[in-house]
Amino acid sequence: MIQKPKGTYDVYGTYGEKIQYLEKLLSALMEKYHYEFVRTPIFEASSLFHRGVGETTDIVSKETYDFKDRGDRDMTLRPEGTAGVVRSFIENKMYTRPSMPVKAWYYGPMFRYERPQAGRYREFYQFGVEVFGSTSPMVDAEVISIPVTLFRLLGLKGIQVKINSLGDKESRAAYREALLTHFEPHLNELCHDCQERYSKNPLRILDCKVDKELECMKNAPKLSDYLSEQSKQHFESLKQYLDDLGIDYIVDEHLVRGLDYYTETVFEVEADIKDFGSNNVLCAGGRYNHLVENLDGPSTPGVGFALGYERILNAIEAEGIELENENQVDAYIIPMDESLRKEAFRLTQTLRMNGFTIETDYLNRNLKGNFKQADRLGAKFIVLIGEDEQKEHIYTIKNNDTKEEYKIDQDYIVMFLDEKLEETELEDNDHCCHGGHECHCHEGGCKHHE
Ligand code: HAM
Repeated sequence: MIQKPKGTYDVYGTYGEKIQYLEKLLSALMEKYHYEFVRTPIFEASSLFHRGVGETTDIVSKETYDFKDRGDRDMTLRPEGTAGVVRSFIENKMYTRPSMPVKAWYYGPMFRYERPQAGRYREFYQFGVEVFGSTSPMVDAEVISIPVTLFRLLGLKGIQVKINSLGDKESRAAYREALLTHFEPHLNELCHDCQERYSKNPLRILDCKVDKELECMKNAPKLSDYLSEQSKQHFESLKQYLDDLGIDYIVDEHLVRGLDYYTETVFEVEADIKDFGSNNVLCAGGRYNHLVENLDGPSTPGVGFALGYERILNAIEAEGIELENENQVDAYIIPMDESLRKEAFRLTQTLRMNGFTIETDYLNRNLKGNFKQADRLGAKFIVLIGEDEQKEHIYTIKNNDTKEEYKIDQDYIVMFLDEKLEETELEDNDHCCHGGHECHCHEGGCKHHE
C-alpha cells in the first residue's frame, strides 16, 4: 500500500472540524483587525528564499524542498510565508497605495525537510500576518496582540510571551563584532554547528540548545548593551504599548530567532503547559526593516508573525479544551417509502438552500437504521416523509433530543425549523462556557457574557 510521505499527515474526522473551527476564528479575528487576505504560490523561485530567508539559516541550508521544473528553473516549496508575501507586495506595487500601511494575513501549507517529531512536520500549516509601511512600535504591539487575543478566545491559558530587541543595522554590526571577539578564545568548546555559526551568523550561537550551559555562553556580551538610542527607544515604547494592552511578557535576551531578516523586535509565544514537549513555540515573529529593500523593493519597514496550526491544536488538546462542533446536522430527512425518495431529496436541497445543514439517507436504510444514522450524525431534528404525510400536505418532525413530535404544514417547514433551532441554540448558550473558559461559542457573543 502506498503511504503518506514521512512528516506529513492526513486531515479527516474531528481533526478536520477543529481546523475549520480555528480557521473561522482566525478569519473573523482578521476582519476585526481589518487585515486583508492574501495568497501567494506554494512554490517560488529558489532565489527568493536564499535572499529572503537567508543562506546561513538552517531553513535554507538544510531544510528546503528544491526542484527543477520542466523548464530547468530552480524552484522551492515555500518553507515559510513572509518571503512570498514580501515578493507579492513588491511585484504588485502595493507600496504605492495611499492607504498605507498594508496589513495582510495568510494561511497555508509550508514545507521544511526536518526530522519529524511531535509538533514538527515536513508539511505543516501556518497562519501569519505581515504589516508593511510603519516603523511605529504600536504596530509591533498590535501584531503581538493578535496571537495573544486568539489564545484568549480559544481559552488557552498556559502561554508565555517572550520579546527581545535585535536592534537596528548599526546595533547588530557592533554586537556581532563583540560576539566574535568574545567567542574566539572558546571556539573549540563550541559544538560543530556553533563553530559554523561563528563565521556565518554569530548571533545564532546564543540560541544554541547544545551549548547553552557553557560558561562562555553565560557570560557572553549582552545585546542590550549594544543597542542604539533609537533601538532602545523603540523597544521601550513597545513594552509600554504591551503594558497598555494588558499583555504580559518577559524579556529574553537570548531570543534571536532562526531567520536572518529580523531587525529590532523579535518575539515568540511559548506553550507553558506541563509535558507539552520541546516543540513548544506556538508562534513567532518580528520586525524586518530591510527585507523589502533586500528583495529589490523600495525601502519599506515590515513586521509580522506566523503560528503553526498543529502546535496550537496540540496545546488546546493538552489543556483539555473542547472546541465546539459547529458542523452539527440541523435535520435528517427520512423517506418512509422508496417512492418518496425523490421528494426527500428535493426537500433536502430546498432546506440546504434555506441555510440549514441537512443530511438524508443514501444507503436505502430501513426506518430503524435511519433513526440510528440520525443519532450518529447528531441530527437535532428528524423529518419523516410518508404517504399519509404527503396526502395531508404535512411533515412529521421529531426533536431528536426531547423526542417531541410535531405535524407541520409542508409550506411552513422553513419557519418551523428556524424557530425551533433558535430555541435550542438559546438553551445551548446556557451551558456553552465549558471549563470556565472565556466564551466564544456564538457569533455576537454568548447570552452568558452579554
Ligand atoms: P518560524 O519561527 O520559522 O517563523 O515559524 C513560525 C511558527 O511556525 C513556529 O512558531 C511553529 O509554530 C510553526 N512551525 C515552524 N516549523 C514547523 C514545523 N516543521 N512543523 C510544525 N510547525 C512548525 C516564520 O515562519 C516566519 N515567517 C514568521 C514571521 C512572519 N516573521 C515575520 N513575519
